[in-house]
Order: sequence, then C-alpha cells, then structure tokens
Amino acid sequence: MNGRAMVLRGDARNLPLPDESVDLIVTSPPYWALRDYRDGDASLDGQIGNESSPGEYLESLWECTREWMRVLKPEGSIFVVLGDKYSDRADGGLASAQSWREDRAHCLPPGRSSTAMAPRKSRLMLPERYRIGCLDLGLLVRAVIIWSKPSAMPESVTDRVRVAHEDIVHLTKRPQYYAAVDEIREPASDYSRAPGARRATPPGQRRRAMADTVNPLGALPGSVWEIAFQPLLVPEHLQTDHFAAFPLEIPRRIIRGWSPSGICTECGEGRRPVAVRDRIADRPGRVQGRAVDALLGGHGADGRAGSRFATVAEVVGYACACPDLTAPTRPAVVLDPFGGTGTTALVASVLGRRGVSIDRSAGYCRLAQWRTTDPGERARALGLPKPPPVDPGQERLFEEIA
Ligand SMILES: C[S@@+](CC[C@H](N)C(=O)[O-])C[C@H]1O[C@@H](n2cnc3c(N)ncnc32)[C@H](O)[C@@H]1O
Repeated sequence: MNGRAMVLRGDARNLPLPDESVDLIVTSPPYWALRDYRDGDASLDGQIGNESSPGEYLESLWECTREWMRVLKPEGSIFVVLGDKYSDRADGGLASAQSWREDRAHCLPPGRSSTAMAPRKSRLMLPERYRIGCLDLGLLVRAVIIWSKPSAMPESVTDRVRVAHEDIVHLTKRPQYYAAVDEIREPASDYSRAPGARRATPPGQRRRAMADTVNPLGALPGSVWEIAFQPLLVPEHLQTDHFAAFPLEIPRRIIRGWSPSGICTECGEGRRPVAVRDRIADRPGRVQGRAVDALLGGHGADGRAGSRFATVAEVVGYACACPDLTAPTRPAVVLDPFGGTGTTALVASVLGRRGVSIDRSAGYCRLAQWRTTDPGERARALGLPKPPPVDPGQERLFEEIA
C-alpha cells in the first residue's frame, strides 16, 4: 500500500487539478447559513454557505459540481453529504411564502418550473433541489443514502420529529462506473436467511433477489447507514478548531466501495476485488466435498434449497482485464474539495489511495496537514490502538514514514 495524503489550499470552484485525474470525490459542503468558517481569527473569505439566499447557495454548489465533473474520470463517482435547513426569518429574510417566491427564481435549475415554495417553518428542500440540478448538469443520481445519526442533537421543537439524518447523494457521469461493493457487503439479515425467505419472493424477482440474499460475501449494503459522530481533539498549538468533520466511517465505506485499491499501469483499469468461494459441508461429520472457484465481479451463491453445503467466501485479491497481472498498480486518487480537517484524505491514505484535501482556509489546511500525518490519527483511521509517544529525537523520522 503506497497511500498518501496531500493537503492543498484552494477553492472548490476552481481546483488545481488536471481534467479527468480523480477517481472518486467524497465531500461535505458547508450547509447554507449554518456556520461561519474561519481562517485564523477572521471569517473565511469567499466561503460557500454564507450566500444571501438559498438560490445563490445552490448556484455555488452547482458551480462546484461542474468543476468536480471536469476533474473526475469518466468511470468515477461523486458522493456529497448535504443537510437541509428550515425556512426562518433568521435565514436571510425567508420569513414568508412571498419572500420565498421572490427568491424561487434562483432556486430552480434553468428550464424548470415548480410551484414549490418554502414558507417559514418549512424545510428548504436543499438536498432535493441540489440533486435535481445535478440531473440538469448531466449527472446520474445513482443513490441517496441516509446517514442516520444515533447521537443527533436534541431539539426544542414540540410539533415535528427531531432531525436525526443527513443525505449522501451518489452521482456518476455515466451508467457504467467503477464499483467494488463486494468490499463493503453487510452480514445477511436474519430475514434473508430464514427458510421461507426465498419462497416469499415474487417469481419474476426470484433470481436477482436470491443472488443478493444468498451471496456468501454478504448482502448488498443498504441505503441507511447508522454512523455515530466522532469527536476530534485538535492539539492546542494549531490554535484552530473545526466542528464539522464527518466520521471516519463515511469516507471509509465509500472509498472501499467505489475506488479501486490499485489502477493497472498496463491497461489503466481499476482492479476489482476477486472473491473465492468455498463450499463446505454445513453439518459436522458430513464433509463430502469441497469446491473452490474464483469469481470476477460475480456472485458466489449456492442457493439450492436443502443444500448440504454452506458457502463461504472472501475477497482474496484484485484483478483487471489483463491476462497477466504482473503489471504494477498506481494508487487511485480520492478528492475532498471541501477538505476541512482532512478526514477523506486521511482515510484514503491509510487505505492505500492518494487522498487530496483542498480547503480555502489556510488554518484548516494546517489542521488537515497535522491530522493526515499524525500517527495517532492514522492509527484511529485504521481502527488500531494509538501508538505510544515517540522520543523527541525520533519525531522527524516518524513524520517521514507516516
Ligand atoms: C463541512 S466542512 C468539511 C469538513 C470535512 N468533511 C471534514 O471531515 O473535516 C466544509 C469546509 O469547506 C470549506 N470551504 C468553504 N468554502 C470553500 C470554498 N469556496 N472552497 C474550498 N473550501 C471551502 C470550509 O473551510 C470547511 O472546512
């Protein structure tokens, strides 16, 4: 694994990267009118999120998205974490349906009309509007994932549910793109393992449902991800704080599932996981035979009713279309254009990718530089215990190999 993190100061609307050079974008833009991001002691100049109307905010996001499309490879994916807001007088004067109607002209992608409005107390529907605009940019909206937050903030309202989720939209440039969901399959649910589960499936859907529910690598990941916040302790000498870092688990799942672990230098393709399935007798003392076969992007299902065999499987390597896999690989590039504390780049680098974290704030870039090289943070990203402190004389050596 030769993963690395690179932190650059720059603007998400104008990236210092060549065309089609990025394999995956994982990002979370500032939410509209929520925070004032800082650069040292000052408010961050040119920051996205402090536009005077939600319409202008959406225009900024689409401007960024066009730029991300430029740097993204045709087979790449973009994942954007986006939360919504309630319309309120404090939110830039959106006190009434009237003011929203006046603003609405800016809120909808060109060529679209809608009678939708957001009077006071209504949600602004910003994630939905953003996604509709992405369709107009020519992107495919492949999935909307709900990031469910078990420890969401309490709210003082008494007439609606507490907001405990944000959306993550998965966008692609074309219908065929790189995916390696075998890397992030989930344990099959009890329902899919239940004896009657297959009989309950309508006949037309039976084969596809079976392939998924009995895939020995596990079930396809669902669209609701329950992931808790993780506090980030920043060393005092950096003299900055950041309160909007997303949990390591968000980029971890996305990077494993939608960026190659290596790109073949011979054919230029991202290598995909190769799973080996192994049929073993499912009852002690009844071992009758064993079959091992390699699957390339396929399913290792043994769905026969009453089979005496249980099928187990694991990812054992990575392959591209080259008949000879001796060509070396280069790391995939994973970008966060609103890099903040460098969470995406940190996780990308410990997973053997090249993580690129871009932020307009020099202060947050310093923070990301610390975080992506700190042995304790790197261990946390790997799910390992924090290493003991090193002797002062050895610190430089440690930084070089981090
Ligand atoms: C929600 S935070 C991202 C947090 C990040 N995902 C993490 O885990 O640390 C949004 C970031 O966007 C940055 N930002 C705001 N406007 C920007 C712009 N025009 N270009 C680049 N970064 C910008 C802010 O400084 C802030 O760090």
